[in-house]
Amino acid sequence: MKKILFVASESVPFIKTGGLADVVGTLPKTFDKDEYDVRVVLPNYTCIPNKFRDAMTDISSFYMDLSWRTQYVGIKELVYDGVTFYFIDNLYYFTGNKPYGDMYLDIEKFCYFSKAALSILPVIDFKPDIIHCHDWQAGLVPVFLKTAFANQNFYRNIKTVMTIHNLRFQGITDSGRMMDLTGLHSDLFTEDKMGTNGNGNMLKGGITYADKVTTVSETYAQEIQTPFFGEQLDPLLRYRKEDLFGIVNGIDYDSYNPLTDKQIAACYDKETVVQAKRENKMDLQKEVGLPVDPDKFVIGIISRLTDQKGLDLVDRVMNEICSENLQFVVLGTGDPKYENMFRYYASQYPDKVSANILYSDALSKKIYAGVDALMVPSLFEPCGLTQLMALRYGTVPIVRETGGLKDTVEAYDEYAKTGNGFSFSNYNAHEMLYTIQYAVKVYYETPEDWNGIVQRGMEMDYSWDHSAKEYEELYHLM
Ligand code: GLC
Repeated sequence: MKKILFVASESVPFIKTGGLADVVGTLPKTFDKDEYDVRVVLPNYTCIPNKFRDAMTDISSFYMDLSWRTQYVGIKELVYDGVTFYFIDNLYYFTGNKPYGDMYLDIEKFCYFSKAALSILPVIDFKPDIIHCHDWQAGLVPVFLKTAFANQNFYRNIKTVMTIHNLRFQGITDSGRMMDLTGLHSDLFTEDKMGTNGNGNMLKGGITYADKVTTVSETYAQEIQTPFFGEQLDPLLRYRKEDLFGIVNGIDYDSYNPLTDKQIAACYDKETVVQAKRENKMDLQKEVGLPVDPDKFVIGIISRLTDQKGLDLVDRVMNEICSENLQFVVLGTGDPKYENMFRYYASQYPDKVSANILYSDALSKKIYAGVDALMVPSLFEPCGLTQLMALRYGTVPIVRETGGLKDTVEAYDEYAKTGNGFSFSNYNAHEMLYTIQYAVKVYYETPEDWNGIVQRGMEMDYSWDHSAKEYEELYHLM
């Protein structure tokens, strides 16, 4: 039996700000239970819904030395869907109406969290073979393990994997402050370890000290070794390339299943998708206040509204997009400049654009089921999950060829009749516009070809099974 511990800052169904939560919440239950004991450590944020917080049991508590401070560490446990989750309890760090957002405070939170995640292990009597750390919030786990914890017998031989879900966020603060927050030795803050330009860098520490490093698609694993995508860590990633693997994410095929989804108007599979999509489209149009017309081509965007997502391209050609015979539905929150941009277009084109500036799982399902195409024109995209959800719901992705988008969407070829979506290669608004116009043309002029694309998309298998096998192989290498 291999024992694996995931350490992460978010996980469905407890707390979610992005795709990381989907991965952490669904990958662990995919491993073969006879061979793997996979558990997860998360912060016990007070904004986790009470129905979960009330169901947790208290395991233990103790005080932990952290630099010159002594901090409380409570341990709570909840078994969900067959997976054991531990929650680190500390009201000073984890109180608030969202899990994080202010980098300065977040750095301190996750310095504490990384050390606490290691410190609870003897208390819960769980010695993992492998600690699998996710993103910068868990970056200090390999650092603590290989330095401050190295001479404690309990921690001997524990191996670590560092998974990068998004290289843009690294957890950087002045080295002096990070030393003060962690008690880590000043020797660690040089450029060849976790220092960058006089600062301490938590993700860099994780990449330096982990035994293996992974990211969430093959293409992103290559891209981050170049200066454009490398976010200044490309030299280190090139240096570690023998230990760097790209494993594409899957999605939860039970939660995302058009045949059983209770949140959509008409359930369907690939035999019934064409008719059901018309019904779901009318239901969606009613819900978001657009003219009801099942023949209309409808494009969706479901996204965190940030620079990463290519929304400046949309802004550049939105008037041209709206001169096409289509409707446009947006769902998401984020940077106010993009929230306002979509509100503006909705007010300019009330019959064409619906801007839903909010987070809603229920509405997202109605969109996946009701639109014809989903746009993901990202500047960079480590994996991207919405294109996988779209494929599952018979919705055709229109993406830029980067990261996981490139690995999961194959462009339609009208001669060979292959492909499951549309794509463009350069970060260029007009290339995107032509691709949309081409999709519109295929939809209206050759509906049987359009339906072929839908069918091929629904035949893809992006469940977790395949990716979990790849993680199993990686764990066995260690
Ligand atoms: C981040 C990335 C996204 C990826 C997700 C899960 O949110 O931006 O591309 O799918 O993590 O790995």
